[in-house]
Amino acid sequence: MNLSDWRTEYDKYNLHEENLPSLPLDLFRLWFDKAVEDLNPEPNAFILSTVSADLQPKSRVVLLKEIEAAKFVFYTNYSSQKGQDLQTNPKTSMLFFFPFSQRQIRIEGKVSKLSREKAVEYFASRPVESQVSAMASSQSRIVKREALIEKAAELRNAGNIVCPEDWGGYAIEPHYFEFWQGQPGRLHDRIIYNLDPHSHWEQYRIAP
Ligand SMILES: Cc1cc2nc3c(=O)[nH]c(=O)nc-3n(C[C@H](O)[C@H](O)[C@H](O)COP(=O)(O)O)c2cc1C
Repeated sequence: MNLSDWRTEYDKYNLHEENLPSLPLDLFRLWFDKAVEDLNPEPNAFILSTVSADLQPKSRVVLLKEIEAAKFVFYTNYSSQKGQDLQTNPKTSMLFFFPFSQRQIRIEGKVSKLSREKAVEYFASRPVESQVSAMASSQSRIVKREALIEKAAELRNAGNIVCPEDWGGYAIEPHYFEFWQGQPGRLHDRIIYNLDPHSHWEQYRIAP
């Protein structure tokens, strides 16, 4: 493995201020549609970072399931590591990487929990195997594989599938976006949208 010689030239798109929408969510939607068109794998997967009570940053992939009222929605187990982190510190960072579009989007925002009704509604729309897994898994706790499989089988056979109390959605309300577009010679484009105290999105460019 020789990592030092691994280099990609970025020359696919550019990012000019004069063509940009005034709202970051509009640009997010444009880039998301382009990511789909460019056949990026799992474009709704993003890296969610949280900070635990002992100030340790932690990152993992989750799936964006909806954008509602300008908030980014994902579903998880509230008792998981990320759930515990968000209980003490609701600040999050989201990262979308669309390699086939040579683009990255960084978003910062605060989470709030979605209602129990929302969780039940979304849970009901999931495939049965996903429902069983959510019920069987005490996410982030130590477990034996055999015990997990056994528990899932028991639940499946009992047929009593209900949305677990500690399973549900979070909505991230963003206050900062960075759109990164790879450019030739590493002179990349980086455009920031930052929500000012008057709830206005200021827009500026930062150095690559
Ligand atoms: C492609 C992909 C999608 C995932 N989607 C989710 C998701 O939507 N919700 C979730 O809780 N975990 C999801 N995971 C698993 C998480 O990355 C992580 O393992 C899990 O949530 C436990 O994280 P935690 O211990 O930090 O709480 C996904 C993983 C991958 C690789």
